[in-house]
Amino acid sequence: MKRHIDISAVTRNRFEEIFGKGKIPVRVSAPGRVNLIGEHTDYNDGLVLPVAVNRYVHVTGRIRQGSSIEIHSTAFGELHRFSFESEINPSLSGWKRFAEGVIRTILKNTNKQVGMELLVENDLPVGGGLSSSAAFAAGLGSVTAMLNRIELSPFEFARTLQNTEHVYAGVECGIMDQLSILLSRMGNALLIDCRTLQIDYIPLPADWSLIVLDTGVRHDLAFSEYSERRLQCTKIVELFRQAGKGFTSLRDVTACDLDQLEKVAGSSGVLLRRCRHVVSENHRVTKTVSALKTSDRKRIGHIFHDSHQSLKNDFEVTCPELDSMVEAACHAPGCIAARMTGGGFGGCTVNFVTADMTEKFINETLSDYRKRTGRNGTSLQVSGIDGIMPCEGKHQ
Ligand code: GLA
Repeated sequence: MKRHIDISAVTRNRFEEIFGKGKIPVRVSAPGRVNLIGEHTDYNDGLVLPVAVNRYVHVTGRIRQGSSIEIHSTAFGELHRFSFESEINPSLSGWKRFAEGVIRTILKNTNKQVGMELLVENDLPVGGGLSSSAAFAAGLGSVTAMLNRIELSPFEFARTLQNTEHVYAGVECGIMDQLSILLSRMGNALLIDCRTLQIDYIPLPADWSLIVLDTGVRHDLAFSEYSERRLQCTKIVELFRQAGKGFTSLRDVTACDLDQLEKVAGSSGVLLRRCRHVVSENHRVTKTVSALKTSDRKRIGHIFHDSHQSLKNDFEVTCPELDSMVEAACHAPGCIAARMTGGGFGGCTVNFVTADMTEKFINETLSDYRKRTGRNGTSLQVSGIDGIMPCEGKHQ
């Protein structure tokens, strides 16, 4: 695990203001991630292509006397205190419940429960589609493991973190965010096969910039719609099984099987469209990998376009603001490729841009977005960086 001893003076002062002077703390910086392509495929055992980006949740911590835990979050401006002597308070909610859940889960089945003082600082926008919640959990979990001298393998750790999101944040997410935050490597995207957990590193073209544009829109229905999409995918697998196919997930479905689904899925066609998105999106991930290898701008532009259209029309997880941001980007100078990224219903788009046109691209896209929607979007130029547990070579 990457351990930082060179804690900035600002963090050190902030830490001491909250917790008092004492031992020098340890720090872990958990990056956010942006998904290049492979949307809503991770929980269908499919392919994804995320990049860990240079915006972080920093967690600084040290051991304290006794068994109580104190966590201060600068993003929420609040302190949470709990002790292992009692169970988690069932009425606890929000970030406090999630933080406590992460720590309890990491220490479950160990006899290690040291008291801790923890400071969480963000330069990753909260709820902005760059996986701030997975980074929060990964940072807290890593520092908890370090201070309690617990060794974790990246895959075991990723599964534990994913499980805490399900149980304590109420989001039935896939495994993409956790693996990219832990295992990414500088200058590369991470090709993850979510069925086998095979990982390959795909270099990003050096003369393309990676730009994240935030629509500024957050929809409350994102959580419920996410769960609904998951259920629909499970239902499709069930329909295939009833029709005699031995599928265990949508990863098993081929384009030819879609005709059969049309017959059994009823007249609404909704399930057929959901399935078509997942099947075609998996293909697009593979095509993106080969387009990246040859820096094929035209091809990647088409693939991102098709992905966005599929998410808009078949999976129905975009919103007018995401569509407008992508349209604006496609008309702007220097644009190579643009699409929505993450769960959808607001949040961000991901864009490849010719490096020397970046500023012009951002200005013109955001101004066009403002004309189309009356909203102010924001931009982040990001680069692919190491995850918390960077590794050499292939995995698995
Ligand atoms: C969210 C989830 C991920 C993934 C994406 C959609 O970000 O956390 O696991 O399912 O949505 O691709």
